[in-house]
Amino acid sequence: MLSPTGGMMTDEMHPERAVANILIGATGSVAAVRVPVLFEQLSARGHSVKIVATDPATYFFDPAPLRPHLTLDADEWPGDRYTRGDEVRHIELRRWADLFAIVPLDANTLAKLAVGLSDNCLTCVWRAWDWAKPVVLAPAMNTLMWEHPFTRKHLRSLAADFGAAHIPAHFDADTLIAQINDRAKKLRIMTPIRKTLACGDIGTGAMAEVPDVVAAVEAMLG
Ligand SMILES: Cc1cc2nc3c(=O)[nH]c(=O)nc-3n(C[C@H](O)[C@H](O)[C@H](O)COP(=O)(O)O)c2cc1C
Repeated sequence: MLSPTGGMMTDEMHPERAVANILIGATGSVAAVRVPVLFEQLSARGHSVKIVATDPATYFFDPAPLRPHLTLDADEWPGDRYTRGDEVRHIELRRWADLFAIVPLDANTLAKLAVGLSDNCLTCVWRAWDWAKPVVLAPAMNTLMWEHPFTRKHLRSLAADFGAAHIPAHFDADTLIAQINDRAKKLRIMTPIRKTLACGDIGTGAMAEVPDVVAAVEAMLG
């Protein structure tokens, strides 16, 4: 939430805590079932919250109750033809947001973020992002997807974009994330947790718990 002078406002009940405009990016992981809860928890803490979701993400939650706050790809292309002056939604969202939290972040979108593909509204927001503003990423995927060399390769690539270059390639995922979170001041990656996944596999890859995501978002807001 911006003050009239453009800075972030503080919570009147908790003056030490910043309240902000938070953009949730939701991708097509089964963990997107938690998007409504994340929206509720951030809103309950006084933040203004909007969501930009990929089409696969909406397989996992009902968009209808969130619709006033939710951008889908179709909203980027609303009319028969673009007319000068029409809203460019991904740029409007970028301008509005103080922080971008991609929760959950699936393997497909992680790969797109790492190489700069921008074929939907969410990845266009990412591509147009103002890197002075913080980002929180909460990966969620099957264990073998998480352990695939692509995952570390993509995370290292993101880290380099955020100023944490030259992290050794042999680091395991936990060490890699610790290094990134230590060195990339505007980027916070939530370590996935180990449990029985929705697919039945047991291992690491489940999305971090929602309260931990909320805490990370608020920590990044300072
Ligand atoms: C039931 C189901 C669950 C899925 N869960 C995950 C997941 O947890 N993580 C993941 O990386 N991909 C998962 N996928 C695959 C993604 O949905 C798929 O890669 C999709 O293309 C992602 O598109 P998006 O990144 O544009 O949202 C799942 C697919 C299905 C059908």
